Amino acid sequence: MRELHHLAQFTDCPPSQDTSLPEPTQAVTRIVFTSRDMEARMWLKQVAVDAGFATREDAVGNTFIRWQGTDPNLSAVGTGSHTDAIPHAGMYDGTVGVLGGLEALRSLREAGFVPKRSLELLIFTSEEPTRFGIGCLGSRLLGGALDPNHADALTDRLPETEPNATVGLTLAQVREAAGFKGPLSTVKLPQNYYGAWIELHIEQGPLLELEYTDLGIVTGIAAPASYRYTVSGFGGHAGALLMPDRRDALCAAAEMVLSVERHTLAANAASGGVDSVATVGMVNVHPGAVNSVPSRVVFTLDIRDADVARRDSILSAFRADIRAIEAKRHVNVREEFINADAPAKSSDHIVATLEAACRTEGATYHKMVSRAYHDTSFMALIAPVAMLFIPCRNGVSHRPDEYAEPEAIVRGTRVLALALAALANE
Ligand code: GLV
Ligand code: MN
Ligand code: MN
Repeated sequence: MRELHHLAQFTDCPPSQDTSLPEPTQAVTRIVFTSRDMEARMWLKQVAVDAGFATREDAVGNTFIRWQGTDPNLSAVGTGSHTDAIPHAGMYDGTVGVLGGLEALRSLREAGFVPKRSLELLIFTSEEPTRFGIGCLGSRLLGGALDPNHADALTDRLPETEPNATVGLTLAQVREAAGFKGPLSTVKLPQNYYGAWIELHIEQGPLLELEYTDLGIVTGIAAPASYRYTVSGFGGHAGALLMPDRRDALCAAAEMVLSVERHTLAANAASGGVDSVATVGMVNVHPGAVNSVPSRVVFTLDIRDADVARRDSILSAFRADIRAIEAKRHVNVREEFINADAPAKSSDHIVATLEAACRTEGATYHKMVSRAYHDTSFMALIAPVAMLFIPCRNGVSHRPDEYAEPEAIVRGTRVLALALAALANE
């Protein structure tokens, strides 16, 4: 807990002044390869070295912390998560899996455990899409799900107003400046590198708390997709450009935002469920002046579903609306594909190992699907995987008031340690 609170101090957000929020209200902004991210990485590596583990980093900055097994030729057992945080996030997303993983390894060693397979903690680069537009950057490269050249050409998406922004610089340039050199083609891990993988994470939803359940064992991860839209209209003086002559890019974008919401709600109504979700979370208005008609708007779409076909049918209906809005408002819309991933499935064996660890620990658990995405989706391409969730207050995440009980973090870490130990000696 002390280390979690220390890590939370590496933030680009001042402490919240909002007295309506429950404690703790330390808002965390830690964008990949910013000074704050680099300081946090340095501190974490030192903690791992002080604990006696070997560390290495790959060309994109994924960090490996290794405890060598007695049979180093066997595939390793891995655990880990991310330490980057979206703007105005909380202090538990990702970090619980990193420091929980480190604590699991440390405690097992202090307890005299001797692993046959190597145990490895992996800290992923840029799980969050804030800076380069795509989530799970490090794990996509590890799993071979992202072309290295395409990755290196991704550009910095931080708004120019951000102190850390390097607008227009590529990932290749930004990672080199951060000290991560060499071709990204070297990042992919071989298929037999990990024999088993477990990520500990906060649930980021309300179910465990509502059901008074200690832990969640994740059996699958919902399928995320994201796109970027550029709406080009015609700008001008807010007083002199008369309404009949307008081709306002923001008005057109506003109709599109409501269109995708409408089709997502309709998909849920048709299925009688709540599995379809769509979010427009970033809108950039050009030129962004009070008295200027917007000539260009760029917005992102994050769309997810447990059912890929349903996700695609929402997109088709949305695209038909885009064509109609283009015609009606005389604007042009360009769609850029960012990612469209399949759902991931957990390994029955690792799920059973986690169930056994819960029983040993006397923890109640539910099997569940993750609606948030995780680096584990991409580890699933190269290894048998599962995830372990701990409850978080009111299901709140990606907000400063994200909170998990220390007891829940301890319980999750203990179950993780037991499961890692069992897998390491198989
Ligand atoms: C992860 O941060 C997600 O957006 O699901
Ligand atoms: Mn997150
Ligand atoms: Mn996360």
